[in-house]
Amino acid sequence: MVQLVPAPAMDEITFRSDTVLSDVHLYTPNHRHLMVRLNGVGQPVFLSQFKLLWSRDSQTEPGAESGGHSHVHAEGTPPGSGCTDEGSSLSPGAGTTSQEGAGAQLDEDGDLDVERRPRATSDPDPAEPPRDKVQPVVLAQEEDDGPGDEAWDGSALGVIRIEHTMATPLEDVGKQVWRGALLLADYILFRRDLFQGRTVLELGAGTGLASVVAATVARTVYCTDVGADLLSMCQRNIALNSHLAAPGGGTVKVKELDWLKDDLCTDPEVPFSWSEEDVCDLYAHTTVLLAAEVFYDDDLTDALFKTLSRLAHRFHNACTAILAVEKRLNFTLRHLDVTCEAYDHFRASLQALQRLPDSRLRFVVEPVEASFPQLLLYERIRQLELWKIIAEPVT
Ligand SMILES: C[S@@+](CC[C@H](N)C(=O)[O-])C[C@H]1O[C@@H](n2cnc3c(N)ncnc32)[C@H](O)[C@@H]1O
Repeated sequence: MVQLVPAPAMDEITFRSDTVLSDVHLYTPNHRHLMVRLNGVGQPVFLSQFKLLWSRDSQTEPGAESGGHSHVHAEGTPPGSGCTDEGSSLSPGAGTTSQEGAGAQLDEDGDLDVERRPRATSDPDPAEPPRDKVQPVVLAQEEDDGPGDEAWDGSALGVIRIEHTMATPLEDVGKQVWRGALLLADYILFRRDLFQGRTVLELGAGTGLASVVAATVARTVYCTDVGADLLSMCQRNIALNSHLAAPGGGTVKVKELDWLKDDLCTDPEVPFSWSEEDVCDLYAHTTVLLAAEVFYDDDLTDALFKTLSRLAHRFHNACTAILAVEKRLNFTLRHLDVTCEAYDHFRASLQALQRLPDSRLRFVVEPVEASFPQLLLYERIRQLELWKIIAEPVT
């Protein structure tokens, strides 16, 4: 998460002091910032494509009879990535990038030549505007218009199209795509066996990217978050990617699920409320929960863990929750040091859940090593972590 200072120029997006911009969008080359419309609250909406480095038509589908491993068609790994040679770590929307040698480079005087992150991983053209200047161009304001780019094939099986905003205030962070969603998506593609034909619930889904990927294998995905504006954007993303849904399944239902409320809203007058049928289906069939990048505020983290526990008790089956988190380091005046308080609180909550005295369920927490192949383009940094919670009946 990048804290931005106010931008001075009139023709650039104005940032408030509490504005945050996801690294996913920060490192997306400018020519991919396709602004398509303004949303219901007047924020510019952009359309980005996230290339999946696999094709369902080919026999190289992730996890297909290969112990979960797949062929990755990436050409390289950018500097600073923490990924293995099984996959590559690139910026979303970018093409592949070339990789210079990993060893230290010296200049002609023998000084260490520190390699900087490329301005735009796919774009060697120095005539392009600098990466950190967002220069939106409205391509279409009609609801159904595409971006008018010939290379943009909306039906391509290897491309996820996501509408999102950029540089939002904190309360709107769900309208951006965060790195954890991409890590989670990679994990889903790696462990297709865990999702095949299942009912999945995503909490704090934001733009819905991880739910879109889950729907390539699952039977039903309940994609949940809060706020009608965000949920409409999410619903739109689900529709944009419906061609990726698993044959004979892959239904995504966008619903409101607020961690601060004990019950699901079933009032038919409320947008994105639950039907009684959906509530029954959710409780009767869900076996997998997903959540990415939802641990940035201690009160919300507490509410999310309470929600996890409450849902696990209502589910008829044992369930596994897969959580993606980025350990964000901040310098605080209070500590006069670099800390990661939100992450520490998340870890403490995991421990507390494991120790919860419960006569019905036991919660087992395990870290998941992020060494699985990378099929989406993002920087898989060391601070990006995946955790698994297994909720099973006490025997
Ligand atoms: C940083 S965003 C992550 C979005 C998405 N999972 C991703 O990784 O791209 C955090 C998400 O948590 C959601 N959230 C915050 N408070 C919530 C609440 N009380 N109930 C449900 N979702 C909430 C936000 O709306 C937002 O979508």
